[in-house]
Amino acid sequence: MKIIDGKFYSEQILSELRAEVAGLIDRDLRVPHIAAILVGSDGASETYIANKEKKARSVGITSSLYRLPANVSEKELLDVISFLNNDDEVDGILVQLPLPAHISATRVIETILPSKDVDGFHPINMGRLALGQDGFVPATPMGIMELLRRASIDTAGKHCVILGRSNIVGTPAALLMSRNNKYANSTVTLCHSKTENLAAIASSADILIAAIGKPEFVTASMIREGAVVIDVGIHRLPLKDGNYRIVGDVKYDEAATRTSAITPVPGGVGVMTTTCLLQNVMKAYHLRNGARPI
Ligand code: GUN
Repeated sequence: MKIIDGKFYSEQILSELRAEVAGLIDRDLRVPHIAAILVGSDGASETYIANKEKKARSVGITSSLYRLPANVSEKELLDVISFLNNDDEVDGILVQLPLPAHISATRVIETILPSKDVDGFHPINMGRLALGQDGFVPATPMGIMELLRRASIDTAGKHCVILGRSNIVGTPAALLMSRNNKYANSTVTLCHSKTENLAAIASSADILIAAIGKPEFVTASMIREGAVVIDVGIHRLPLKDGNYRIVGDVKYDEAATRTSAITPVPGGVGVMTTTCLLQNVMKAYHLRNGARPI
């Protein structure tokens, strides 16, 4: 049984990015820059943003953080995005989600220039993904594809079952896994809250991607002997002693007895997400500088 080590593959990609930034510095070129916007001060969002900035810094990508109060008007937020859209020094724009209820996330995402939309949430980028055109792919499904490719998992012709149809993970993952290229070409079944016989479908998967958002939902009986399991979930389960345990959507210990390969939590898909975001920032940089065709 193989453990698909997200930390290892993430470090590989970070080294590639570090070398690329170093090459830019050697040629006296500007380095890539990501601008992040944080509305309010939600604890989890603060942590995500801090991690993204730290990882960016570790490869030489610069970042700036625009902090706006929780009661900021939608208009003020859209004005900040427009300002960043027009700033030539900014390659990628990320608005941390979720946003307060009085702000339309759809309007916010649609205001980001598609060529700076490193989250890949803009309808133009989602549309390009659906059409098989090049664009920005959301970082989590991108991380899943990188893990499968770098771990040499055979996907062509395989039955890939995805649990969860979110716009951020399940739906783009379904599009990517069914694409006509040698790192995909899977036959995809996308399961969701209304799926009948979900356990039976899951247990027919060669590759099972769990992105259902429920702690330890996937048990051994839902996994075919020899399947590859990709666990996208990250949950904190409180323990009696006041500490907590981090678990995924898959009951890891029992699942691992049946799989041919599995991603751990933490250290699997999660660590790949921020790394792939940086790959998107580099791509946005090249796109804007015309230095490399995409
Ligand atoms: N909140 C949780 N995940 C994400 C993400 O991938 N991008 C943004 N912008 N916000 C998030």
